[in-house]
Amino acid sequence: MNVLELLQKHQSIRKFKEEPVSAELVRDIIISAQHASTSEFIQTYTVINITDRSITEAIYNEVTAQKTILGAPVFLMFCVDVNRLHLACRMNDREAPDSYLEATETFLMASVDTAIMAQNAVVAAESEGLGCTYIGGIRSNMKKVIELLKLPRGVYPLFGMVMGYPLAAGDEKAKPRLPLEVVYKENEYQTAGDEELIREYDEVIRNYYIERTGGQRNETWTQQMSDFVAKPQRPGLKAVLQEQGFALK
Ligand SMILES: Cc1cc2nc3c(=O)[nH]c(=O)nc-3n(C[C@H](O)[C@H](O)[C@H](O)COP(=O)(O)O)c2cc1C
Repeated sequence: MNVLELLQKHQSIRKFKEEPVSAELVRDIIISAQHASTSEFIQTYTVINITDRSITEAIYNEVTAQKTILGAPVFLMFCVDVNRLHLACRMNDREAPDSYLEATETFLMASVDTAIMAQNAVVAAESEGLGCTYIGGIRSNMKKVIELLKLPRGVYPLFGMVMGYPLAAGDEKAKPRLPLEVVYKENEYQTAGDEELIREYDEVIRNYYIERTGGQRNETWTQQMSDFVAKPQRPGLKAVLQEQGFALK
């Protein structure tokens, strides 16, 4: 399969075979992910492979009750890690200024770089026949994850990721995305014609959910988004990030 085909067939996979994923393959996936581009060469991430069942169970019980975590052969935590840059400074007999960790730009850069390398991991894993799902749900109790994984100042968990060999045959349709014209523009931002296209997309998504759930779920994309934006968006996060040193100044 070529890379374009692989990317366009992507589906989040939440149910896995019991078959283990070899430690070598996980390492190869992470090495591939590390080769993603990284702003200013900062490489501000640490991936923690959670192999201790009691930690997985604590995350399930106290952070995000998603069954996929319990059934996944591999559960990784992608952490944004600026702590290492402070070590780099000390190794050169210098102290990183507090203003570095506190800058909004640092937070943005480090988080973006972590997400970019994580997506490389997904592509690498999928190219090896594995399936993955990001677990952003870990941010529902980020403080607990910080405590369980002993994350120091300058480090925070961005998302988890489950990985394993897919249980299903993998012949289901990929989840349809917005029409290209809605997300891809030329020269300047404009939204002419978007509403009509999104209306058509709504029906595509409605049919996708009906088909996938045997009629149980009958919802359009705009309905889903309207419900989503009305919910509180993990309001405690800013305080937890600040405790980790990310002051966002
Ligand atoms: C950062 C991030 C966090 C996510 N968190 C979760 C999660 O906690 N649980 C889950 O089941 N799916 C999660 N997802 C998967 C999305 O729901 C999924 O990618 C989206 O619905 C599109 O479906 P697809 O990946 O199958 O194409 C997350 C995706 C991303 C990128």
